[in-house]
Amino acid sequence: MKFLSRVFLPVLLVALVTIPVRAADAPVKLQSLRGDTPVEATPEADMYKPMKDSEPIPRDFIQQPPLIPHAIRDYQITKNFNKCMDCHSWTRYKEFNATKVSLTHFKDRDGKELSNISPRRYFCTQCHVPQADAKPLVANTFKPGTGLQR
Ligand code: HEC
Ligand code: HEC
Repeated sequence: MKFLSRVFLPVLLVALVTIPVRAADAPVKLQSLRGDTPVEATPEADMYKPMKDSEPIPRDFIQQPPLIPHAIRDYQITKNFNKCMDCHSWTRYKEFNATKVSLTHFKDRDGKELSNISPRRYFCTQCHVPQADAKPLVANTFKPGTGLQR
């Protein structure tokens, strides 16, 4: 024990002191996404009007998270409350004439079936997005596969 503390403690101390110094010495190449543009010169984000509420929007491929065909302003998703599930849960969807969340949304990452929405599907707007009538930012030539369609 004595030997251990005599040899290892100093070695440990030296290592602890030198490692951060080494890291600081290494050249760090940081580049900001903004580049040299000062904050005041950043163009304002365009404001788009959300699309009018509509029927479900056709999907481009079957694995696509369906687009949200209605406004979601003020629909909160917090740790304790999920507004979307007010209408899209299996217990409520009929009342609101909404689509119920699919069975896939109850599986955890190991494929285990849960009795309520899986944590990895909790934050709906991670995958489902509302629509605005805006010009596409980039051109897109995507064509759905012909064998797998809805
Ligand atoms: C007040 C009830 C209500 C709330 C709250 C609500 N929805 Fe909906 N949602 C609907 C209804 C009704 C439809 C179906 C519209 C139709 O069939 O005409 C729908 C449709 C959808 C669809 C399209 C389903 C498909 O098959 O294409 C998605 C996706 C969706 N909602 C996601 C969401 C998300 C995400 C939230 C929360 C941010 C949310 N909804 C909150 C009522 C609601
Ligand atoms: C990780 C991505 C992801 C999250 C998070 C997510 N979804 Fe989905 N959702 C999908 C995908 C992909 C589909 C289409 C394939 C499927 O049904 O699994 C889908 C399908 C749906 C459908 C259509 C079901 C049907 O029968 O056609 C509804 C409604 C829906 N989601 C609502 C929600 C709501 C409400 C939440 C939040 C509580 C949510 N989703 C969270 C990816 C997601």
